[in-house]
Amino acid sequence: MAFKLNFGVAFFLSLWSTVGCDFLVEGVLEMECHDRYLAIALDLSATGANPRFEAVDRFGVHAITEAYAAMCGYSITLLPFLGMVELRASYFSCHIEKVDGLEFKFNLITNYDGEEVFYVLNKTCPPPRRMSSREVTCEVNYMEVSMRSDLSCPSEINSDWTALRPTHSTSTSDWQVIFQRLDEQLPPMNLSQARKKGYTFDLMHDRIVFRTSYEKPESYRVEVSDVPVEVVHATLFSRKSWIVLMVDLIAACSMDEGSYDSGYVLWKTPEALYSSYNRTQISVGLNGELVDKESAITLGFIVETQSTIKIGIPYNTEGGYRKSFVDNGIFEFYMFNLYLKQTSVDEHYEETAVRFQRTLVTPLLPCSLFTEDQTNLKEGMFTIYLGDVPEDVELISVKLNGEEFRVPSDVNVFSIVETIHSNKTHSYTLKVPLHNPIIIQKFSKDAGAMLHILDVNYTLAADPEHKFYYHTVSVTTLIDVSPPSFHAVCNKTGISFQLNHQPSDYLWKFDIGPDRLTPALAAKHGYIMSNNSQSLLLFVPQLAHGFKYTDVSLKGFLGTFEILVKSLNTSQVRASTTKTCPFNSTEMILCSTSGWMTVVVDLSLVVKSNRIVKETSLINELCVPKETDGNRVLFSFPLHSCGSKVELSRGNVIYQNKIYYNSGSANATEGVMVQCAYPLAGLHSLFSTHRFESDKEGVGSIIPSKRPTQDTPRSTEATTRPATTVALQKTKSKNPVLYLSSFYPTARYIKVPSAQRVVANFKKGTK
Ligand SMILES: *[C@@H]1O[C@H](CO)[C@@H](O)[C@H](O)[C@H]1NC(C)=O
Ligand SMILES: *[C@@H]1O[C@H](CO)[C@@H](O)[C@H](O)[C@H]1NC(C)=O
Ligand SMILES: *[C@@H]1O[C@H](CO)[C@@H](O)[C@H](O)[C@H]1NC(C)=O
Ligand SMILES: *[C@@H]1O[C@H](CO)[C@@H](O)[C@H](O)[C@H]1NC(C)=O
Ligand SMILES: *[C@@H]1O[C@H](CO)[C@@H](O)[C@H](O)[C@H]1NC(C)=O
Ligand SMILES: *[C@@H]1O[C@H](CO)[C@@H](O)[C@H](O)[C@H]1NC(C)=O
Ligand SMILES: *[C@@H]1O[C@H](CO)[C@@H](O)[C@H](O)[C@H]1NC(C)=O
Ligand SMILES: *[C@@H]1O[C@H](CO)[C@@H](O)[C@H](O)[C@H]1NC(C)=O
Ligand SMILES: *[C@@H]1O[C@H](CO)[C@@H](O)[C@H](O)[C@H]1NC(C)=O
Ligand SMILES: *[C@@H]1O[C@H](CO)[C@@H](O)[C@H](O)[C@H]1NC(C)=O
Repeated sequence: MAFKLNFGVAFFLSLWSTVGCDFLVEGVLEMECHDRYLAIALDLSATGANPRFEAVDRFGVHAITEAYAAMCGYSITLLPFLGMVELRASYFSCHIEKVDGLEFKFNLITNYDGEEVFYVLNKTCPPPRRMSSREVTCEVNYMEVSMRSDLSCPSEINSDWTALRPTHSTSTSDWQVIFQRLDEQLPPMNLSQARKKGYTFDLMHDRIVFRTSYEKPESYRVEVSDVPVEVVHATLFSRKSWIVLMVDLIAACSMDEGSYDSGYVLWKTPEALYSSYNRTQISVGLNGELVDKESAITLGFIVETQSTIKIGIPYNTEGGYRKSFVDNGIFEFYMFNLYLKQTSVDEHYEETAVRFQRTLVTPLLPCSLFTEDQTNLKEGMFTIYLGDVPEDVELISVKLNGEEFRVPSDVNVFSIVETIHSNKTHSYTLKVPLHNPIIIQKFSKDAGAMLHILDVNYTLAADPEHKFYYHTVSVTTLIDVSPPSFHAVCNKTGISFQLNHQPSDYLWKFDIGPDRLTPALAAKHGYIMSNNSQSLLLFVPQLAHGFKYTDVSLKGFLGTFEILVKSLNTSQVRASTTKTCPFNSTEMILCSTSGWMTVVVDLSLVVKSNRIVKETSLINELCVPKETDGNRVLFSFPLHSCGSKVELSRGNVIYQNKIYYNSGSANATEGVMVQCAYPLAGLHSLFSTHRFESDKEGVGSIIPSKRPTQDTPRSTEATTRPATTVALQKTKSKNPVLYLSSFYPTARYIKVPSAQRVVANFKKGTK
């Protein structure tokens, strides 16, 4: 029983189904008496999808079919998308009982799973007031005209009108009707013939009533001021002896379907539908409410009355209905029940009031959703705002990088917060932590940063329909690649460094001091390096090149090794991994670049067993050990001092000294030779200013020997014991000064076989 809606949107309106309950609860039913009709609105959830109505009077029950509704003054509008059905019954409709008012009685028949339930609906409305001489109603499914029956008629004839009432009609009624088309007069027919054709003639409230559905063969269409108008013109006549009574019943209704333009639904009707002495008066409203023209304009309506009456309803005005529709996009349409009263007065001061009931629907208007990437890196989250979602469109699920989650969801992957706005939209704010494994991370070579990618596919649906709309958005963010750092572990023999490879590794290079770490460098300095697809492993033995030593004592020393992480492009140091480990070594010798020798010697290796070492010294007896524990001694002294011998040999300058020890006898006669050799080429100031400066650390040796009977530069018989030779970088030594300043330039033994220039410098400097 769904009646036609304008614009052909109707076809899908009726596709929605509704869910129901099986009884009429309060609030699902609304009955309201309007100026010329009773409106009954019912919640479809209570009535089921296909409610039926019956009109009830004392003669019986009359099923309201589509044809019967048009004949009898009922309109039923089924609006499943609003979950509502509305029955409008004209005050001139059939089956009204007139008691203290107009008493309407209906049966509502609901149908759930084949089970029919009857409900009685009754309502009494006050009789219509202030009726115009002629009243025309252009309902959605019929045209109705009523006229005062006493218009300029002799009173004795008035009784004859009752013959128009169907219940009174007898075979003796001689009322005839002639339909007039534009220039054509159709043959007369009697009332029963006319009723068979679907026309209604009646007498109610002392008025002659004529009603017909649209598009009857006897009606016609004309254009008036560019507006299509349907006209039905019936002339009733009755011959009583020599008097012929004739009544012209004309209903003319604008059939404008409405249009939509710039936010307004427009509808028009000719101003001069009926002959008018002066301008017509307009009142307009929605859902049966009428306000005058000025008030309507204040409410935002367009009301123009120049030859055509043009009504514009703002699309979002109150009283309209809005519905979203999903089909390859999100659309919305607005629907209005326009009610318009047009009053005119003719030259005989007789008033005609035309009332229009029109359902106007906008076309499907696309709704565009709005997404904004509100990601704030400091928060560590992707934040995506999805706004302008119509209030009746719900987020069903989200796909994050292809993985689907229902909304709401209790998984810990994301959060969605819904915000409802006053403009009938709502928004969803989605947050996904950047570190979540669902986020795709790719290294961007161009940007030199980690690209984080989140593709979101929102599934939205308009309630209660179940078609989905997918809205996709892709957000990315670049996150700076932090320089890698090694994991370092000490053990007794050295330091292990480990680096797990990152895609961004190629941006970096690793340096040890000034040198790039390569397999060749590792091999040269005795590092153990292995590099596979997973990680880079580097083991640096405790005394290997690159260490810095501090806190040297007989108990041990600290070795520090540093790997610099430099930007490959700019060679800027971006990070470093520095590891300091405690090491033990029974013997060691450090030849610093600043000209200090630090040496730990285990004398027990050279002294006969059970003899306690006492009173050790260097060549200069005033130079005593910094530390001693009976077996081992630690000396730390400037190379030039303490009686060191200097020797030039094969491009090297070699400093030698000797640790003498007294092994119980009165004489300190035995000794261990210690020496540091520096390549001459790397020396900047040898002896010139009592300052020593070398590019490179020296190579130290500990050589046990007998005290020589005469001083020789080097004992060839000396058995060179493998000594630990290490480098001491230019660190500020905390060692106490172990020499007397007067001994400072005491390089007493020197031979200058070839390098004259160096010697010259030496001589000059020691003046
Ligand atoms: C109308 O209905 C109400 C209940 O819905 C009932 O009490 C009342 O008697 C009915 N009136 C008539 C005239 O049927
Ligand atoms: C109306 O006209 C038809 C056909 O002309 C005729 O059969 C019928 O009897 C008439 N009815 C009345 C009430 O005059
Ligand atoms: C039309 O004329 C009648 C009679 O003069 C008057 O009552 C009515 O207000 C006028 N209507 C308009 C719209 O001017
Ligand atoms: C609705 O209101 C929200 C919040 O004020 C605003 O962001 C949004 O743009 C508005 N949407 C429309 C369609 O006006
Ligand atoms: C979004 O998800 C739907 C449902 O799985 C799919 O049909 C559609 O192709 C997806 N859209 C995109 C852009 O991936
Ligand atoms: C120290 O670690 C290195 C590398 O892992 C290993 O070769 C060596 O044997 C370890 N030394 C000790 C004393 O554990
Ligand atoms: C380690 O191996 C990778 C290839 O697996 C190479 O790109 C990288 O340069 C190597 N690193 C070093 C320090 O040799
Ligand atoms: C690094 O070098 C590459 C290739 O020369 C160049 O494209 C890139 O812009 C450089 N990046 C920086 C940060 O300098
Ligand atoms: C070094 O030796 C001392 C004494 O022998 C011991 O106390 C210390 O723990 C050792 N240190 C290391 C790192 O082996
Ligand atoms: C000390 O040395 C002198 C001279 O070499 C020697 O005569 C003397 O015997 C030595 N004394 C001892 C206790 O070895």
